[in-house]
Amino acid sequence: MGIKNIELKDKTLDPQDWTSMRALGHKMIDDMMDYLEGIKEEKIWRPTPDHVKDHFKSSLPQKGSNIEDIYQEFKQYVLPYNKGNVHPRFWSWVQGTGTPMGMLADLLASGMNPNTAIGDHAAMYLEAQVIEWCKEMFDFPEEGSGILLSGATMANIHAIMVARNATMSASIRKEGLRGQKKQLTAYGSVETHSCVDKGIEAAGIGLEYFRKISCHDDYTINLEELESTIIRDIEAGFHPFCIIATAGTVNTGAIDPISELVIIARRYNIWLHVDGAFGALARLVPEYYDSLEGIKDADSLAFDFHKWMYVPYEAACLLVKDKDIHRSAFNLQPSYLLTHERGLAAGPDPVTNYGMELSRGFKALKIWMSLKEHGIDRYAEMIEQNIQQCRYLASEIIKNEDLELLAEVNLNIVCFRYQPGSIKSVEEMNALNKEILMRLHEQAVGAPSYTMLDGKYAIRVAHVNHRTRKLDFDDLVEGVLRIGKQVEEEFA
Ligand SMILES: Cc1ncc(COP(=O)(O)O)c(C=O)c1O
Repeated sequence: MGIKNIELKDKTLDPQDWTSMRALGHKMIDDMMDYLEGIKEEKIWRPTPDHVKDHFKSSLPQKGSNIEDIYQEFKQYVLPYNKGNVHPRFWSWVQGTGTPMGMLADLLASGMNPNTAIGDHAAMYLEAQVIEWCKEMFDFPEEGSGILLSGATMANIHAIMVARNATMSASIRKEGLRGQKKQLTAYGSVETHSCVDKGIEAAGIGLEYFRKISCHDDYTINLEELESTIIRDIEAGFHPFCIIATAGTVNTGAIDPISELVIIARRYNIWLHVDGAFGALARLVPEYYDSLEGIKDADSLAFDFHKWMYVPYEAACLLVKDKDIHRSAFNLQPSYLLTHERGLAAGPDPVTNYGMELSRGFKALKIWMSLKEHGIDRYAEMIEQNIQQCRYLASEIIKNEDLELLAEVNLNIVCFRYQPGSIKSVEEMNALNKEILMRLHEQAVGAPSYTMLDGKYAIRVAHVNHRTRKLDFDDLVEGVLRIGKQVEEEFA
């Protein structure tokens, strides 16, 4: 065990010149504050030009560059081609807006840079408090547990793994699925988000055994079909282990009847997980309390902060009613991750015992600061405002004979299309509306996204934007009609 060639240099990546770095930091904050303050005057989106795409094909930097130059490069090639979800007219996919305070919190979190996995340090206690607040928001029991994850996708995948392990013998982690006598089956509606498919795959269940139950006209799950499918599966020797309810489907914002699903789940001893990526947050609004009350009786809940809590990317939460079951799915304590009685290695139960990740950032800080900045009542007001704005948009669509509302507006999603009398075929109508959507983006009128509903191409507004004003929706309607007329004439 000889040691050879010791040559100490004491180099560091810290700046040689702290004054310049500090000045640059101040400038960056000033610029980003200007950017956010003036965002409504910016173009919502512009295509990324070829020279910018090419700029990102340069080879690995061998030597360092001046920090001012790097920042100029960011301003020239990155910032102007932002996705746009900070803009008041962004309603694509289901993507949140962020806030200035959230941005600053991320700066502080990166500056502190704690790996929030283990140890006796503030980030661990602060994150634990955020989890307690989440339980309070959804009336989850104090004995419950939770973990912050990157998004609802990861939260749903984790939930399915917990549900799987809860159903099976303790030996599952050792033997894998091979030790199980019966094939597991899971249930959700055809409107379940595709990330649940990934969870089913990752848990080794196999997509074939994820029974996709049909929906009613309002896109909520058909309970009769669900129950008869469960009964049929039990009779055929399968082992139903998890029902995934959706609180706010991605396509139309439909809310599955969660309380009824809880009853079915209890009847057959099945885990009830709620994917409430954005919709669960509507529970803060009195009008939605009853339809989302069942969440408190679910075994687990996944929801995002970066959608309807307007926290910058990324931040989501998984809550589990039974802490022991949650922990037993992920706990692993090798000698190098054991907590000690005192010192830095003391502290709360390592977060890594509740999820797949070991290294994890301090995303809790932006949630904690945001909740302190606004208070939960303010979030309820903002969510309600978004719902009211969607109802307004729907009413403007219904008023106009060239527009057609394609689904009931239950929550914060409005699906519609331009529907002139002159075009009769479904294919042509779909192509027309797709063209309208692309021009809405290119002309920076607004950024809704799209989906297919019963074979019809829908322009889809998914609204989790605290910057949108009534005027933005007025301009959207006006833009769809204007562009629609042009495209219709071109198609004729
Ligand atoms: C209902 C639903 N579940 C899950 C997800 C995935 O969430 P994330 O993008 O945060 O992973 C989404 C995303 O829009 C969603 O709408």
